[in-house]
Amino acid sequence: MTKHASPAQLPVHELRAGMAGLGMIFDETYRPFFEQAAAQGIFDPAFGVCRARLAAVASRTGTRAESYRRTAPPATATFESHVGAHSGGLMAESSVDFVCVATPDDRHFDIARAALAAGKHVLVEKPSVLSLPELDALERTAREKRVLAKVVYHKLLDPDHKKLRTLVVDNQLRHVNHGYCSLLEPKQISGDQFAEWIHGRNPGTYVAVHYIKLIDFTFGGRLKSIAATGQRGLVGPADGATWDSNQLRLVYEYADGREAAFDIHTSWVTPDNFPGYVEQEVQFRFDNGVWNCHSRKRGVECTIEGLTPTKLKTTMNNHYNGRFVEPWGERSQRGYGIEVLEHFVREVATVEFGGPPSERDARLAAARSLAYNDLSAERQTVAAVQALEAILAKRAAGTPDCVVHVNRHPAGGLVLLAPGKAEPEVLYGGEV
Ligand SMILES: NC(=O)c1ccc[n+]([C@@H]2O[C@H](COP(=O)([O-])OP(=O)(O)OC[C@H]3O[C@@H](n4cnc5c(N)ncnc54)[C@H](O)[C@@H]3O)[C@@H](O)[C@H]2O)c1
Repeated sequence: MTKHASPAQLPVHELRAGMAGLGMIFDETYRPFFEQAAAQGIFDPAFGVCRARLAAVASRTGTRAESYRRTAPPATATFESHVGAHSGGLMAESSVDFVCVATPDDRHFDIARAALAAGKHVLVEKPSVLSLPELDALERTAREKRVLAKVVYHKLLDPDHKKLRTLVVDNQLRHVNHGYCSLLEPKQISGDQFAEWIHGRNPGTYVAVHYIKLIDFTFGGRLKSIAATGQRGLVGPADGATWDSNQLRLVYEYADGREAAFDIHTSWVTPDNFPGYVEQEVQFRFDNGVWNCHSRKRGVECTIEGLTPTKLKTTMNNHYNGRFVEPWGERSQRGYGIEVLEHFVREVATVEFGGPPSERDARLAAARSLAYNDLSAERQTVAAVQALEAILAKRAAGTPDCVVHVNRHPAGGLVLLAPGKAEPEVLYGGEV
């Protein structure tokens, strides 16, 4: 038998969290995470126990903050609430150790920059930012302030996507040739959930980015070109700047000079009585195999009179974020959407409490080397998003079929070429 330290000897740390944005994703993932992390803490041999407490929130109107306070467990209900368009910056300067940013994606940058400038670790929802200059600014500030700047792509933690990557890393699936991904969101998202900020936006930036990251992270390679198109007329006027659905094509080149093309289709106008919450499907073809994955058809199909498919979905994703009665009687809410947040807090706790202060920089460097969530590994993904937004803006302004080249044109790292126009438009001058 080995002698162990008693619980009293185990160090117990606390990290105070700030949360900007209390919408759908807060409710699905951050809320259960903070409630669990305040009650039970996170254990790691590197630092002992760390509790993460929701200390401050920022939102546009404060309504959801107050309604959450009424139902939150006592340990989580004492947060400060900052309200208004500039609430994120104010909250970032308050007494918090890290800041999570889950505001609409065109409002990530200012809040994340304010938090980093105030010396706080930052976790930002996908896509982290909408342009490479914004990414450069966040990365620079994070390095200056010696804090972490990370992004959430919870689909990288989906067990099926982890298995795909494992087969690629182990060279069982060899050399990806081409692939497609599809993610279709219900009309309720564009018509209700996002109605406040949807004008001029597209579903590609919001959800295709999950697959851009999956492809970039899983297969590596150098992004060469981006093309895109889409449909309008349901969420906004048919000749307007707000998109119903988008199709994006990325071409990558690998070390041996061979290329692969990926098509990513997204929409937020699927009928609300669709049997699943979202339709998510990928197919990747390799030199020696095919990977097909359908997240809605993993095995469950449930019908309950009066409930499915509107109040409860017929095909449910019990891996992302489900409410369960555990076999030991406890009620829980768990899944990869929550696991990804816990991992970030584990990284922050390891940097701050995982050894002597003299070795903090080495721990910081180790956390920054994690390509699945560090902003330094986000360049090709943000380049694809910036290119997509530029191509769609050109289309809405009357110039269809533009293509963006990456690190191939003498004029710059991200260059938009319009058909019949000799002059390139430089979206980003530096190397992507
Ligand atoms: N990882 C995922 O799969 C996933 C899923 C949904 C959303 N998201 C991301 O999370 C973010 C938010 O999405 P959502 O679905 O929760 O949106 P939402 O519209 O439901 O909520 C947005 C929240 O941001 C707040 N807000 C808006 N402007 C603000 C400002 N200037 N300052 C402070 N707060 C402000 C609103 O008050 C609201 O609480 C987006 O970036 C989105 O891409 C990610």
